This record gives sequence, structure tokens and C-alpha cells, in this order.
Amino acid sequence: MNIVDIINKKRMGEELTKEELEYTIKGFINGDIKDYQISSLLMAICLNDMTDEETSYLTEIMLNSGDKVDLSGVSKIKIDKHSTGGVGDKTTLILLPLVAACGVVAPKMSGRGLGFTGGTVDKFEAIPGFKSELSEEEFIKQVNEVGAADIAQTANLVPADKLLYALRDVTGTVESLPLIASSIMSKKLASGADKIVIDLKVGNGALIKNLDDARRLASIMVNIGKYHGKEVVCFLTDMNQPLGNAIGNSLEVKEAIEVLNNEGPKDIRDLVIVLGTAMVSMGLNISMKEANKLVLEKLRDGSAYKKFEEMVKYQGGNLEGLVISDKVISIKSQKSGFVRSIKTNELGEIVRKLGGGRYEKNDVIDPTVGIVLSVKKGDYLLEDEELVKVYINKKDISAQEIIDCFEIDDSSGGLNPLVYEMVK
Ligand code: URA
Repeated sequence: MNIVDIINKKRMGEELTKEELEYTIKGFINGDIKDYQISSLLMAICLNDMTDEETSYLTEIMLNSGDKVDLSGVSKIKIDKHSTGGVGDKTTLILLPLVAACGVVAPKMSGRGLGFTGGTVDKFEAIPGFKSELSEEEFIKQVNEVGAADIAQTANLVPADKLLYALRDVTGTVESLPLIASSIMSKKLASGADKIVIDLKVGNGALIKNLDDARRLASIMVNIGKYHGKEVVCFLTDMNQPLGNAIGNSLEVKEAIEVLNNEGPKDIRDLVIVLGTAMVSMGLNISMKEANKLVLEKLRDGSAYKKFEEMVKYQGGNLEGLVISDKVISIKSQKSGFVRSIKTNELGEIVRKLGGGRYEKNDVIDPTVGIVLSVKKGDYLLEDEELVKVYINKKDISAQEIIDCFEIDDSSGGLNPLVYEMVK
């Protein structure tokens, strides 16, 4: 077997065998196959796609490239949750304590920020003292005692994905559906949960821009789950505007706390109720109706927020210490009209420029900065009314750059649903 024949085969649009994929990934990890050869193969995959069977094999090979988390020390059904990433997405901060308050066991490994989208680990770490690096024993102990824990992915979890992702990032090959599916599912399967709920974001603030691609990605991931004996449910949800109002780490923690206290913006609250209901139904083997009742009750009676406090304290965090910058600038609209569209990824990019995200792996995040929207898509506003508040610290912003993120028009252009569909 040799890598040039494998690249040629994929270039001609043919299907690779499990043995060929295994040879390729193992060779890449041990250095026998070079970066430029893998880059060429990744581009051929991007252009010629993979069958579902090839994608399943690739996922399995990636999954076996490193450690798997052994959650056999947790006796109940374990539910994981994944979001493909978007701007202002703080659902995990709310969902883990919410479902744990309902009696579901939710161990989760999260990532740090990627590009213009923030990462859950960075959001939790905006809480002073919060520890995301727990040992496997500490993680399991917390899951057993609290019901939920969120930790950073361990170093040797799917090393093949780390290597492949770094190459994809710099070779224009991130946006391949089988490559995205195998990357996400290998990590989810390695994390050891029994059932997985995936929030697949679609829109101008997400990796996946249209519904057809989202449907195909969802069906590939559900099938990979079936092949590995895991129930996977995917929700296709809108990301044509930031989720909730807050973007930026401390601001997002504050907004998550509002939702946990049964308040907060309607879209993030509604989404958390949909995803939470599915997680509780799958985790407790009860109907969606019963699960929904439980979720609403735990938001209403304060136990979701209490569970959040317990989880944060267990991981060393001090909520009193959460800092949001007091340098606040109000940015106003230059004309009256409906908010027709919002350049979601550009708002995420502006928060990154303010210091709220990283450009290099070792950059230190400023959790105190960010943006809070005063308007959402479809709202009508008058000239000089506020579009956003910007929380700045060490870096300045261009007001015009922010104003240009909002298209104000005579028509709202209609609104997208928050949840498009469910694939299972
Ligand atoms: N998230 C991942 O983990 N992998 C991808 O390829 C894309 C999004």
C-alpha cells in the first residue's frame, strides 16, 4: 500500500477501504506520511466526498488513535451534549446543571474557542478559580456526586483529530461534511457517554451555512452513532444572529445565570428548554412531555441555579469574583427601521479583537470584555436608538465596524425558526 495510490484513488472519486484509511492515519501519526500528502488527500476528500461507510471507518480509526474515557464507574445513563459552535452559545453552562437538577447524569468534555466562536471551557474559566483540568478520577467523582461536570478535553483524546484539524485549518479543508462528522463523533465516542444530543448550528454565524448541508451532516453523525450502538439526536438550530444577547465570556456567564433563574433572553431560554427536554427524556427514559414538565419545574423552583452553584463550587469557582468591564460604550443606530440581518460571525470576530478570544494557542483571554445586543432580528428601532453596548478593557473598537454588522431596512425580511428540525 502507498499513500500516493490512496491520494490518486480519492482524486478519482473512488471509495477508500478501511485498511487504506487505517494505513493513512497511522502513517500520519507516526510521521511516515507527510503533512503535504495528508493535505492533498484532505482536499481530494473535500472535493469528492466520502460515503457514509468510509466516514464511519475514519471515525473508528480516529477514535482508536488515543485514550477513551472510562465512565463505567458511573452507573446511570450518561448523556453528552455537543454544539457545533456559534456566537453567544452558552447553552452548555445552562444545560448541564439544569439536566443534573432533573436527575440526569451529564459528564462533558468541552473545547476552547475556535476562530470567531467562543469555547465552553473559556466561558466557565471566566469564573475565577474554576478548574477545567480534572483527573479522570476527580471527573467521575464529581459526576457521581453532583450529576454534572464540564472539563477540558484531555491531551490524548483523539490525537488524530488534533493533527488533522490543525492541517484542515490551514489548508481550506475544514468545511467537508465527512471530515466534520468524523472529527466531532470520534471525540464524542471517546468521551464515553451512552447517548448524545447534538445542537447543529446553521446560518451566517456557524460553520454550516445551509439546511441541506446540516441535514446531511446530522444524518452522517446519527448513523455513526448507530454503528457504535449510541443513540444520537441532532437538532438543527438557527445561527443567523447571536444566541441570547451577550457575547464575551463573563457576560455570557451572567446571561446563563439569568436563564438558570428562569429569566434571560427568550431565544436562549427556548433553546435550552428544547435541548434540555431531549436530554432529560433520553437520560431518564421518560416521554418528552414528562421531561419538559420536569425541565420547566427545575427552572422555576430555583433548583437549576442551585445545581449550577454546586457544580461551580465543586470545580473551585467563585461566582462572586466574576468581573465585567465597567468601561461601557453605547453604539446607536444611524437610521430607523427593522433589523433585517446581523453579521453574526463579524460580531464574534469583534469580541475576539477586544481580547475576548484567541488568535494564537497561548493568547490569554480577557473575560471582562464583550458585546450585549440591545436589538435582535426583526426588531424595529428609531434613529439614535441603541444597537449594542460594548464592554471594553485594554483594546479599542471602531463604532462604525459594529454599526455595519446590522442591516437596518424597511422590511424585516421575515424571521427564521429557532429550531428547524430534529434528526434521529
Ligand atoms: N467541530 C469539531 O470538533 N470538528 C470539526 O471539524 C468542526 C467543528
